[in-house]
Amino acid sequence: MIELDGVCKSYHRGQLEIPVLKGVKLELGSGEFAALMGPSGSGKSTLLNIIGCLDTADSGRYRLADTDVDGRSEDDLALIRGQRIGFVFQSFNLLPRISALRNVELPLVYQGMARRERAERALAALERVGLADRAEHAPAELSGGQQQRVAIARALVNDPVVILADEPTGNLDSKTGHSVMELFLALNAEGKTVLLVTHDLNVAAYATRVLHMLDGEIETEERR
Ligand SMILES: Nc1ncnc2c1ncn2[C@@H]1O[C@H](COP(=O)(O)OP(=O)(O)OP(=O)(O)O)[C@@H](O)[C@H]1O
Ligand SMILES: [Mg+2]
Repeated sequence: MIELDGVCKSYHRGQLEIPVLKGVKLELGSGEFAALMGPSGSGKSTLLNIIGCLDTADSGRYRLADTDVDGRSEDDLALIRGQRIGFVFQSFNLLPRISALRNVELPLVYQGMARRERAERALAALERVGLADRAEHAPAELSGGQQQRVAIARALVNDPVVILADEPTGNLDSKTGHSVMELFLALNAEGKTVLLVTHDLNVAAYATRVLHMLDGEIETEERR
């Protein structure tokens, strides 16, 4: 499903080039559930953003399902992202002034879907995460765990093949974090490929593969 080879990425500070990814190789099969761990600054978010088509590599190969992603234009990347990827962030990234339902609808608005179908699909996604009864609430009227579930509904609304999450439980207490992980587990059981970044061993324990990143490379991995 996801295949990277020799992926490199540097950031630039004035004249200084700071290498962040130094030839990442990764193969993730369809239906896998993997956790990416590693010290702060090792490049986990940078890698996840490239896999999620939010950023591009400087060099290397990236294939997602049957698509060559490397070398694509911004527009192509937006399309690939919109059709195949659901992305969940640590800080939820919901728009504060619109309802949960409208937040979940947003990816469909960008696709130009008709209003009625949009609302139906968004409500179904909220139902999937157990929050249909909170559809009209604003994010501030929801708990952290509920806000993250709304964000997961938004990630699901396009029916993506891959779900990526960057420290999705980082802002949640451990009990709420576990309920969010149960949701990822259920989505994985339904066939979604899941890759998440975490610092928490209890969160990584849900995954069947744990990849360890160190200094811009995937150094080791465990399979469970
Ligand atoms: N936009 C940017 N501009 C310049 N440097 C950046 C940028 N984003 C990240 N970096 C640098 O790249 C390195 C890797 O950052 P990244 O966010 O991928 O780490 P991480 O493994 O996700 O860390 P954390 O666990 O703290 O989230 C860091 O040294 C960081 O300072
Ligand atoms: Mg990070």
